[in-house]
Amino acid sequence: MTKVIRNGTVVTADRTWKADVLIQHGKIVAIGDNLHADHEFDATGCYIMPGGIDPHTHLEMPFMGTYSADDFESGTRAALSGGTTMVVDFCLPSPGQSLLEALQMWDNKTSKACSDYSFHMAITWWGEQVFNEMAQVVDKGITSFKHFMAYKGALMVDDDEMYSSFKRCAELGALPLVHAENGDVVAQLSAKLLAEGNNGPEAHAYSRPPEVEGEATNRAIMIADMVGSPLYVVHTSCEQAHEAIRRARQKGMRVYGEPLIQHLVLDETEYFNKDWDHAARRVMSPPFRNKLHQDSLWAGLQAGSLQVVATDHCSFTTDQKRTGVGNFTKIPNGTGGLEDRMPVLWTKGVNTGRLTMNEFVAVTSTNIAKILNMYPKKGAIVEGADADIIVWDPKRKKTIAAKSQQSVIDYNVFEGIEVTGLPRFVFTRGELAIQEHEVRAHPGHGEFVAREPHAAVNRALSQWKEITAPRKVERTGIPATGV
Ligand code: URP
Ligand code: ZN
Ligand code: ZN
Ligand code: ZN
Repeated sequence: MTKVIRNGTVVTADRTWKADVLIQHGKIVAIGDNLHADHEFDATGCYIMPGGIDPHTHLEMPFMGTYSADDFESGTRAALSGGTTMVVDFCLPSPGQSLLEALQMWDNKTSKACSDYSFHMAITWWGEQVFNEMAQVVDKGITSFKHFMAYKGALMVDDDEMYSSFKRCAELGALPLVHAENGDVVAQLSAKLLAEGNNGPEAHAYSRPPEVEGEATNRAIMIADMVGSPLYVVHTSCEQAHEAIRRARQKGMRVYGEPLIQHLVLDETEYFNKDWDHAARRVMSPPFRNKLHQDSLWAGLQAGSLQVVATDHCSFTTDQKRTGVGNFTKIPNGTGGLEDRMPVLWTKGVNTGRLTMNEFVAVTSTNIAKILNMYPKKGAIVEGADADIIVWDPKRKKTIAAKSQQSVIDYNVFEGIEVTGLPRFVFTRGELAIQEHEVRAHPGHGEFVAREPHAAVNRALSQWKEITAPRKVERTGIPATGV
């Protein structure tokens, strides 16, 4: 059976043109004029774009004494409803656990995924077993490894472990990722705030100022530089971190920065003068920042110094958040956004003139597919690509409301925002998943996407390294010891 999307305008990361798109066996098989098929979908007035890819989700993840509320079924259904046709989720071994065993656990969660997915593997501890298993993980098509520089006493790795793991990534052609916050400083600031009786959700923001993120980003960049690996900085939220990434890129390093839609649109006032539930529902790390930081992130997307917009979807119900009443450090960190990333970014980015439509496609899909090495299977409208396609109606409107969302939680951090620009149709590997309000996505459709190792390493400082590489010096005139 063939399908064709007719009368629309194709928008990719680098081109905009009128064409029909023909789909067969889950792939794009032709792009051209006057194409016909068994089933025709009308895209008059719409843009035909690669489906969104969210490179950062935490579905049904054990975290801070509970599990994130959306699983692979509700999470990917929410994703598809908003035009995201693939998610990359974090496999999180507990410290001491085999990476392969954790991967099996994550694999078991995915049987009801409605969209395709891939994984990043987290490095939460270090040892010979981890060193060896990283190669096996890469062989299974997982070529990115995440390091938490925060969450001291739980997931955090120290510099020793990070240096060893980045070195291993460089050997394997894998991409290290970092959650860049100085966990030692966060722990000290948190203890001080609690001791002073500052125990509400706003104290979460005070405990993680931008400097904490800037320091860790700089440190991770320097460590990546020393081992010659690229680096991907997740949830870049502030100018201090963005500045470090800009500087590294200017030196010739492959360092990537990922702002979240939440940080682009919501600011720190969400934590102040609001009731406890409102503020706690927005507790995430890094916290929301002020307008100056938001401007920096938008500028980074425009200039290309930041490449990707994600959600870090890690949703918790209000009841789960209330575990932290009386102690903000116990509020599960995380917010939702999978269904809203594309419409909110279109509304606040394209409709305001901050981003072109092509830049929108780049930061929500194509750049991600390239950085994570799955382009052009994903992130492209070309013959042979997976037919993960959205037909985007730039005039369709809605007001975001928890009561009509796919996520299972009882609130939405974007509640009340009116978006203009929503999918008319969403296809996942050629199958119709969304038709305006109607959700046809079905559990079990999603498949794992394996990724190859990267050819790219960082060589920016190779000359410097040659000069300073340790070499044995034949030296005479060494003074006798003990004098
Ligand atoms: O607060 C957040 N971001 N929760 C999810 C886990 C993480 O740090 O990415
Ligand atoms: Zn994180
Ligand atoms: Zn995360
Ligand atoms: Zn199916």
